[in-house]
Amino acid sequence: MEELKKQIKADADAVKDTVALTQFKAKYNGKKGAVTGLFSTLKDAVDKKETGRQINELKVYVETLFAEKETELLDIKKTEELKGMDITLPAYDVATGTLHPLTKVMDEIKSIFTRMGFSIEEGPEIEKDYYNFTALNFQPEHPARDMHDTFHINDEYLLRTHTSPIQVRTMEKYAPPLKVLAPGRVYRRDAIDASHSTVFHQVEGFMVDTDIRFSDLKGVLDLFLKEIFGSDLKTRFRPSFFPFTEPSAEVDVQCVHCRGKGCNMCKRTGWLEILGAGMIHPNVLRAVRIDPEKYSGFAFGVGVERIAILKYQVDDMRLFFENDLRFLKQF
Ligand code: DAH
Repeated sequence: MEELKKQIKADADAVKDTVALTQFKAKYNGKKGAVTGLFSTLKDAVDKKETGRQINELKVYVETLFAEKETELLDIKKTEELKGMDITLPAYDVATGTLHPLTKVMDEIKSIFTRMGFSIEEGPEIEKDYYNFTALNFQPEHPARDMHDTFHINDEYLLRTHTSPIQVRTMEKYAPPLKVLAPGRVYRRDAIDASHSTVFHQVEGFMVDTDIRFSDLKGVLDLFLKEIFGSDLKTRFRPSFFPFTEPSAEVDVQCVHCRGKGCNMCKRTGWLEILGAGMIHPNVLRAVRIDPEKYSGFAFGVGVERIAILKYQVDDMRLFFENDLRFLKQF
């Protein structure tokens, strides 16, 4: 057995690659291996217990040498691989990308409103005519429907032209008090130019409770516009019309470029039109079985591209959708 042990050691030392390593193990511990074979001689041994122990020791010895050699070969392989490679060279830059400017503006709007306690709701882009128009108090033949150049799918479905339908869907699902922000993509059958796209983004916001007034709307929007454009800019509300709000207003902010003095960007008026808003029309509340005698609410809708254009002073909306990295990397 001493002889065999020496032989095992010598064989292990001679191993130079993984093939030889496998052969080494098979030669001793394999099915027909020399050590394995010894076990069958046990029945003739004088001291069975002691002989058994010794054979077992040999078996473990083979396993140990095998494991040692395996590690050694692996180390050699790694060293070989590193040869001819300059590990002091700096690594290649990993291109991590950046957030799209519209995503950034969207995130910022969401963050301002969630800090004010608004929660986020979404709705489908393929929408029912009922939610997009009828429930929002657009009468069947009302010309206001024509103001939204709509992609119709069939008599019942269309691509939503605004995020206002999410008001209706949310009020159907939850009872007031509600304080909700509804961001999303919208579609209009418009000719594409520097300020029009068939696909764009809006954020709808609304609040419904027993005691919501126009002054709440003014407070919330004034804070929002100051947060997003700068706290030194004034806001103003002008009377307007939307079927789903009464009274309705269009909200302007002092020009972010000339700060109210008058320039090309604001067409010398000193003001920029930013969003539409108003008190939710009683008919909209009735459509979702909320009692307009008991509850009131305000709503507003903001165009995300419009905010991004003004905030980053981009002069062509198409840049947001062309995916030119030279443009996108600036944000
Ligand atoms: N949905 C309107 C649009 O896309 C924007 C709007 C105006 C939303 C007034 C409102 C609102 O909630 O009160 O033209």
